[in-house]
Amino acid sequence: MVRDIVQIGNPILRKKCEKVTEFGKELSSLLDDMKETVIAYDGAGLAAPQIGVNLRVVVINVDEGYFELVNPVFVWQKGEQIGAEGCLSVRGKQGTVVRPSKVKILFQDRNGDKFSLVARDFLARAICHELDHLDGIIYTDKATNVRNSED
Ligand code: CO
Repeated sequence: MVRDIVQIGNPILRKKCEKVTEFGKELSSLLDDMKETVIAYDGAGLAAPQIGVNLRVVVINVDEGYFELVNPVFVWQKGEQIGAEGCLSVRGKQGTVVRPSKVKILFQDRNGDKFSLVARDFLARAICHELDHLDGIIYTDKATNVRNSED
């Protein structure tokens, strides 16, 4: 089911999310809804608090692939890249954000199995943006030159 996206100003976007401890039907249905929602809104990613759920769950939808990240944590972050970002919770805006150029994360899938992922360039940027949401951080906190986006 496509879910409504919480907009900036709503306090849920500022809460630190809780770790997922139950890997069952509820988590699967949350992830299914997040996939439908991120695709419907043509987003590069979506974090659970953006649909009002205070859990450490993220989906990423980029050219490199589609990823479901449960309880993601950084192992390391390297380098630097400067680029534009937008957010489905900050409609009609974009801003310039400095991010690491390469990251390694650990995460779980919907079954609780553990994986690691090394990501660079835009995928690394998308991961950093979405993981920030899990700690109540919105890209506009870090961006310079927040402006109206063209589309
Ligand atoms: Co966002």
